[in-house]
Amino acid sequence: MIDTLYGSMSDGAIGVFDSGVGGLTCVRELIRLMPHEDIIYLGDTARVPYGTRSRDTIARYAAQDIAFMEKHRVKLLLVACGTVSSVMQSERIFDGSKIDCYSGVIIPAADAACEATRNKRIGVIATPATVRSGCYEFEISRQRPDITVYSRACPLLVPLAENGYTFVGCEPAEFFVREYLTPLKEKDIDTLILGCTHYPLFEEVIQRFMGDGVTLVSSSAVTAQQTFEALKAQKALKPDSHKAQIELYCTDSVELFKENVARFVGGDIDCEIARCIL
Ligand code: DGL
Repeated sequence: MIDTLYGSMSDGAIGVFDSGVGGLTCVRELIRLMPHEDIIYLGDTARVPYGTRSRDTIARYAAQDIAFMEKHRVKLLLVACGTVSSVMQSERIFDGSKIDCYSGVIIPAADAACEATRNKRIGVIATPATVRSGCYEFEISRQRPDITVYSRACPLLVPLAENGYTFVGCEPAEFFVREYLTPLKEKDIDTLILGCTHYPLFEEVIQRFMGDGVTLVSSSAVTAQQTFEALKAQKALKPDSHKAQIELYCTDSVELFKENVARFVGGDIDCEIARCIL
């Protein structure tokens, strides 16, 4: 797992960025696993969604997100956006960056799904850009050519998540989950990768629809877990005496963002929230 993180670590915070609030699902896991780590999060809420845009636009936005992180002291950077992760290698978005230790979410999620499947049929739901990139098919067939991957783009789940329509009993959430996932259910998959970091917010709705026989792999959660293991292995975790500082930045309204932070990370989280310009 550790070798999916590129580079070596120094002291500093864990940097995390996403196109919007989706990456907060990764932050939630990081805090749960490593309550003493400093975290700097950027959600580019003024320009979300990224997943319906072209590769070069995604790469340009990602370069600005990385440049923002370079102004802070980060020991490693998590690209908690499936869409940016899917073009990370091909568009060489870290070329020339000062940050030399980073990870996307694709390899951790592909690894976890390969481990979980029993019937060798894996489903992937993600943004149109991620599905178009074919990154999961590539990564999974590279390590397990015997596995069949079925992918489906679910573009409308992102605006629903940004607006809090994610819970069991919420009609738009139930409708679109049924609409998008029926073809995958018919393929008899036993493992489903939530390949967009906004989608773990629908976890309960999706699990109920797919049934208990299907294992859900959250790309956010497995990436946080991998980060924890890597930091532990490199003895780069902050000591228990350290009081964690959590800084959350967004590029649009702080008020709206605060609501989502309370909803997705927890209302009682001790953090600073500010708006920034990229
Ligand atoms: N959370 C993002 C992802 O994981 C992207 C959603 C979007 O901006 O379209 O792909």
